[in-house]
Amino acid sequence: NEGSLWGGRFSDGPSPELVRLSRSTHFDWQLAPYDLAGSRAHARALAAAGYLTEDALTRMLAGLDRLEERWADGSLQPRPEDEDVHGALETALVEEVGPELGGSLRAGRSRNDQIATLIRMFLRDHGRVIARDVRALIEALAGQADAHPDAVMPGRTHLQHAQPILLAHHLLAHAWPLVRDLERMRDWWARANRSPYGAGALAGSSLGLDPALVAADLGFAGPAENSIDATAARDLVAEFLYIAAQLGVDLSRLSEEIIFWNTHEVGFVTLHDGYSTGSSIMPQKKNPDIAELARGKSGRLIGDLTGLLTTLKGLPLAYNRDLQEDKEPVFDAVETLEVLLPAFTGMVATLRFDTERMAQLAPAGFSLATDVADWLVRQGVPFREAHEVSGALVAHCERHGLELHEPSDDEYAAIDARLTPEVRAVLTVEGSIASRSGAGGTAPSAVAAQRAHLEERLAALPD
Ligand code: ARG
Repeated sequence: NEGSLWGGRFSDGPSPELVRLSRSTHFDWQLAPYDLAGSRAHARALAAAGYLTEDALTRMLAGLDRLEERWADGSLQPRPEDEDVHGALETALVEEVGPELGGSLRAGRSRNDQIATLIRMFLRDHGRVIARDVRALIEALAGQADAHPDAVMPGRTHLQHAQPILLAHHLLAHAWPLVRDLERMRDWWARANRSPYGAGALAGSSLGLDPALVAADLGFAGPAENSIDATAARDLVAEFLYIAAQLGVDLSRLSEEIIFWNTHEVGFVTLHDGYSTGSSIMPQKKNPDIAELARGKSGRLIGDLTGLLTTLKGLPLAYNRDLQEDKEPVFDAVETLEVLLPAFTGMVATLRFDTERMAQLAPAGFSLATDVADWLVRQGVPFREAHEVSGALVAHCERHGLELHEPSDDEYAAIDARLTPEVRAVLTVEGSIASRSGAGGTAPSAVAAQRAHLEERLAALPD
């Protein structure tokens, strides 16, 4: 039972089958720097409470520093019999500073409060990386909007041509959900910013250690309010995974559009060579693999969230070993986004839009029919009748293969006396777009105001 964390009560060591099942070092070893930071803070709290002399503290901190160096250069590795990162580092510390000093660090803490703290520190760091990457994607979308202030396109509902819109308006419509994801991340951290250290196994520490000291040392706003909640709750981990899954969904919806725009039939975009792939057999192919991988990986991010929620749903308080199952989904989600986002941003930033093709299709499919109805309303016709008249015009044009502005004055009059030739004035894409100038609309003036709001919202977020 040499080197085990619970020798005293046991006469036999763990069976090989248990060791194999129980082991988490192959994934939690990446938490070592956080574990060591926690240990340094805990050592200082022990010293402040009189359990470690100044000299012992100095030797302890030096030993922990050496472990961190050895972890970073790869020379420190968990042994096969180590259960988790906490146990492995304690064994290594004992080797580094001797059994008496190395063994004293476990006083007043438990792996339960340790792991609950470390996962928050891990998410704090990676949350920052992901937020920076999301911000870069928002800037790429806004940059494309800025580069195409006048470009128009067909706006769609039900994937059918609905009303013409500005390309910039559509691109910004994909930026806003990402802004909200960043805001969610900020709000999440305001809740997660509490240190479970000092909660012990579940009931708190009896040694008179100051959890506020450790919390401040580790960069938290303060200690957790309840030691049971601190060790047993993983809602904050699940919330982070929700944000990751929502980001995945937001990327997936944009991906679907890029894939559609990139088809031969639509032909709105060309992908940069560096951000698309070819086919091993069909020389003409240029495939939107980044968008497809983003769409695919959104499923995996949703799986990470639902997997954890399912693990949590039946757990009584306080710590249960099931909670170890939070780590792999978290590591997977973080790595997925950190690899995906830079590639995705590169694809968006280098998209080339065929604005002529988009302008050509903008009025197609009778997408100006609402403008006819709105024009009639401005002439005093009730909307219900205006809708009927405009619908009759669409039916007439469909029958005769005409666009809405093409029937003669007599044909207009035959459809309805109130349909005078002046209606042609609103039957342009530019006129239609310019008329939607209310706040949040697609008119160039409204889009410019929206663009300024986006900057303000971004400026209000932490870097
Ligand atoms: N490795 C565990 C986890 O990731 C922490 C250790 C707590 N284990 C225990 N038996 N109390 O959740």
